[in-house]
Amino acid sequence: MTKADIDGPTATGIAGALEATEVAGVLGADATPASGWWRSAVVYQVYPRSFADGDGDGVGDLPGVREKLPYLAGLGVDALWLSPFYPSGGVDAGYDVVDPRGVDLVFGTLADLDAVLAEAHALGIRVIIDLVPNHSSSRHPWFVEALAAEPGSPERARYLFRPGRGDGPPNDWPSKFGGSAWTRVAPDDEWYLHLYDAGQPDFDWSNPEVRAEYESILRFWLDRGVDGFRVDVAHGLVKAPGLPDLGRGDEPLVLAGVDTGPMWDQDGVHDIYRAWRRVLGEYGDDRILVAEAWATEERVALYLRPDEMHQAFDFRYLGAGWDAAAVAGAVSRAVEISSGVGASPTWVLSNHDVVRAVSRFGRADAVAWSAGIGPDDAQPDLTLGTRRARAGALLTLGLPGSAYLYQGEELGLPDHTELPPSARRDPVFRRTGGASVGRDGARIPMPWHAAHPGLGFGGHPWLPQPESYGALAVDVQEGDRMSTLSLYRRALALRRRSGAGAAEFAECRLEGRMLTVTTSALRVVVNFGGDPVRVDGDPGALLLESVPGALRDGMLAADAAVWLRL
Ligand code: GLC
Repeated sequence: MTKADIDGPTATGIAGALEATEVAGVLGADATPASGWWRSAVVYQVYPRSFADGDGDGVGDLPGVREKLPYLAGLGVDALWLSPFYPSGGVDAGYDVVDPRGVDLVFGTLADLDAVLAEAHALGIRVIIDLVPNHSSSRHPWFVEALAAEPGSPERARYLFRPGRGDGPPNDWPSKFGGSAWTRVAPDDEWYLHLYDAGQPDFDWSNPEVRAEYESILRFWLDRGVDGFRVDVAHGLVKAPGLPDLGRGDEPLVLAGVDTGPMWDQDGVHDIYRAWRRVLGEYGDDRILVAEAWATEERVALYLRPDEMHQAFDFRYLGAGWDAAAVAGAVSRAVEISSGVGASPTWVLSNHDVVRAVSRFGRADAVAWSAGIGPDDAQPDLTLGTRRARAGALLTLGLPGSAYLYQGEELGLPDHTELPPSARRDPVFRRTGGASVGRDGARIPMPWHAAHPGLGFGGHPWLPQPESYGALAVDVQEGDRMSTLSLYRRALALRRRSGAGAAEFAECRLEGRMLTVTTSALRVVVNFGGDPVRVDGDPGALLLESVPGALRDGMLAADAAVWLRL
């Protein structure tokens, strides 16, 4: 490949050229050859609580996951990421862990987890689990001991206990979920830090005991055969020395977006990940670390250095909305940044923390993705959102690199945007006094069979399903060649056959609202605009289209995408 014909692959070069609305650049020319399964893997996020319910108690579980493994193999994914299944205090849907070496009774037993691992592996599917190192549950034995112990004790030194300033908290930090990040143990006692809910006290990562504990937890799961870890809040573990004020008054922290301030993305986190990488290295070179780091792309690149993590979600891509220039900018930058550190990009369109793509793309603002959509907000146009999400899926799966899918994305599920307050479980809703409806809408139990109770999920799902989910059930879509599920299956099969995930980037071209990404495997063309656009080249080259008839007489329909043979 030749070098970029824009001003070299620099930040200003790409951003500047993209502002001119038309750009042709050769990207990633220096990328190291792909090696390692994760570099091109399609990873499916299972949110166990809402995936499949094996015992009919209304909460999904590991036997449910086990039963659906053939479905996932049929879909064609390479790996699963299991969101937390650990015994938990129940305040943040499992992200408040009481025992990081166990399985919560509601999800089953360690034997069920072992069975998921063994059967997934037999189907050629790897399994990554969620690791939650920034905080524990307030019911974790260590925190219970800390509360019972004196200020200054070794028990308290595992967390961040501090005396208040006068009657107030030790500093001005807000919790990401709303309210203060500090809770006072008792009048006349210390305060403890929780960047999230009060039931999620932050560990003190300057304490060697905490570091040793997490290395031991890694080994526990590696010994059991997991293929890696999605590292929760990877940018939060180390806080600036002295815990200085943030100085932003009452401004709330963004729920999903780039985090800045003395509690985020401190240089000290990298020592932790280097140590973890060495632990993983003891198990060969196939086990991986995936960072959930809400930092700028430049800073995220640091987590991807060869002796740290293998992947980091590209949240700029996730947040780009239905905007050709923003998406083009995110794609170009991701390729440039990851190739600069010898990693590959990690694309993601949806997860359990953000409004699902169908609902996001179905609103005029298209980027209202972090705070949830409630009954009083403008409701998404689901026909438009579905059409765009299908096109977005073809872009995501056509791009070189790894792609993370969130359960139900392959069905084109929207958010439940009309949940009543009484049904809401996300602590964000409570802690913000309803100002943010929170993330429950993206966490609704999966519809498996249209005619069964709870749409085949089971009797009384822990969150109610919206009416629209019936027509989107797996059994309905399986029989329909035009369904979103069929589109994902075809795209994943073709991605595998064509080597699209492991291909080399060649060019990312933005013309008006049409984005064309050319790789060594295929060409993806997306029309982000509301009018058809002319696509140059051989009309016989059509491999896949996001909607039937997307490409006709050389014209690509509005809000549609195609894969073309080179
Ligand atoms: C991560 C998780 C989110 C959780 C938070 C606190 O952002 O994805 O669901 O609430 O961490 O653990």
